[in-house]
This record gives sequence, structure tokens and C-alpha cells, in this order.
Amino acid sequence: MLDKVKEIYQEIEQFEVQSREQLEQFRLRYVGRKGVVAELFEGLKQVPQEDRRAVGQELNSLKDFAQQRFKEYSTSLENGDGQEEASAVDLTLPVAPGPYGALHPLNIVLRQVITVFERIGFSVADGPEIESDWYNFGALNFPDNHPARDMQDTFFVEKKSAGAPSDMLLRTHTSNVQIRLMEHRKPPIRSIMPGRVYRNEAISARAHCMFHQVEGLYVDRNVGFRDLKDTLYHFVKEMFAKDVKIRFRPSYFPFTEPSAEIDISCQICHGKGCNICKHTGWVEIAGSGMVDPNVLKNCGIDPEEFTGFAFGMGVERITQLRYGVNDLRLYTENDVRFLRQFQGA
Ligand code: DAH
Repeated sequence: MLDKVKEIYQEIEQFEVQSREQLEQFRLRYVGRKGVVAELFEGLKQVPQEDRRAVGQELNSLKDFAQQRFKEYSTSLENGDGQEEASAVDLTLPVAPGPYGALHPLNIVLRQVITVFERIGFSVADGPEIESDWYNFGALNFPDNHPARDMQDTFFVEKKSAGAPSDMLLRTHTSNVQIRLMEHRKPPIRSIMPGRVYRNEAISARAHCMFHQVEGLYVDRNVGFRDLKDTLYHFVKEMFAKDVKIRFRPSYFPFTEPSAEIDISCQICHGKGCNICKHTGWVEIAGSGMVDPNVLKNCGIDPEEFTGFAFGMGVERITQLRYGVNDLRLYTENDVRFLRQFQGA
């Protein structure tokens, strides 16, 4: 019996465990209830009474030894030390395709807008979202008592007195970047200025307190309304269907004179009438006009020598017309069921 015990000790010493299969074989043979060690315990009954205690102790040590080894092998396999497990990973295989992200629809559209304007010589400029009253309103020719300055429209960060040029606010439009550009650069200036803007609006399907605009500005000698019309006409043809119609509606902005709002034929119902165009067949996409001489003066540009046009359009609106997105809240909710639809777009 003791010889048999010795033999099994040796066997265990020599047993190599490098895979899960080998570990299972080890378990069945030395740890399991039908294994060789268990068999020896069975045989204990036949050992003469006087030796039984000593042999029993030997068998217990053997059992402990086998269990200890088993534990060591299983933890080392779990930690990935097993050579066979390691070599089961073929490092030359290509990576399995994972879930890819998609560009946000607003970014897709913004990139397209930028491409269209870059091709006709516009550069891209950027400006701060936390802005002073001067850049957001004052320099843009807003009178002190203009309703847009009111608390209901503007998020003030720091308000000293009504219309103080140093009041700090979240910009309500991207027109602040026009001022910053004209202050620092000499004409010709031909830039678009994309960015985020904020207004104190209750969030609903049709309104949001945060949205995006692309501002445009072209200042040079002899820039006329004709150039504004040509540029925007080109833009809508590039962005939308080739048969898109455009119309300029007389309007008012403090920073442009004359001013016009720009409508295009509804890209959702193609003029038949739907909720998006409120059954008119037309959708407003931008405000525009000739830069008011006062604004040029505020930036140190001589309005006798230079003229310019400007426009500002809503990125959400253009995205709505491109993709039929009907609820502004979808853009910021991060719902993957919405975002996934733009994979590969
Ligand atoms: N800033 C205007 C707005 O937020 C949009 C706009 C209108 C921008 C006319 C312009 C412009 O540059 O010329 O509603």
C-alpha cells in the first residue's frame, strides 16, 4: 500500500498540466471520487487493524498534496500562464470587426457646409462662447434697449447694468465672431464661423436653449448684394436637391442694411405642404444682409472704402431638412438608436 502511495506521489510530481483538458484529467485521477487516491482510501479497509492508522495518515497527506497541486494548476491556468492557452491565440489573425461609432448628424452636415464654402475661398474662424455684451450686441449695432438683450433671451454670466459693454453672457449667435475677425484683420475677409449658441428657451421639439449656427462674412471693395445672392444660391444648390428654390424675404437685423431672410423650398414635402414648412412649401434657413456701415466703423474699417455681406444659418435646421429629423431634442439625448442611423452617412 505504501509503495502504491509513493508511486502516486511520483506520478503527481511528473504530471504536466498546461491546458484545461489536462487539468480535468488531473482532477479525475487524483482529486475526484473515482480517482486513484479515492481507490486507495477504499482499500484502507483491507489494511490490518494495527497499520491502518499510519497508512490512513499517509493517505491523507497524499490527498492534501493532490488537492494543493490541483489548486495551483487551476489558478495558474486562470491567470493565463498555460502555454497551450497562450499559443491558442493567433496573433496574426485580423482584428474582429468591433462596433464602430458614427459622426453626429450635426457634424456630418457641418462638415458638408464647411466643404462647400471652402471650395469658394472661405476660411473657417472660431470665437468664444462666453462673450461680452459688446461683441454679442453693442458692436453689432443693437440699441441699448433692444429686446434680444432681455433676460428672457440671453443667459447672462455677469450682469452689471442693462447693456453695459462689459456684461458677460453666453453668446446668442455666432455674429460675435464677425466683430472679432474685422477687429483683427484687414479686408479682404472671407470666412465662415461655425459654433454653438445659447438662448434662454424652454426645451421642446421646436426650441432648444443650445443650438448651432454658421456665420458667414465677406468684406472687400465692391462687395454687393448680388454677391450675397450668388453665394447663397450656390450654397443651397450644393447642399440640397438641384431643383431647390431659394427666395430672399426683406427683413430687419440691427447689423445689416438692407437685410433679408432666406427661405428654400421645403425639402421634405417638395412644396406640397407638411408640418415642417407649416404647409407653406417654404422653410427659413438663414438671415443675411449687407454689413451695416456702423458695424464696419465699430471695427475700424472704413465703410466708404469697404462693403460686405453677412449671413447666419441654423445647422439644426439644415440637418432637419437633410435627414427629416423632427425633434430638436434628439440631437442632444445621445440615444444610440438615433445616432446609429447615421453610420456610414
Ligand atoms: N445673428 C442672426 C440670428 O442669430 C442671424 C444673422 C442674420 C446673421 C443676418 C447674420 C446676418 O450675419 O447678416 O438670428
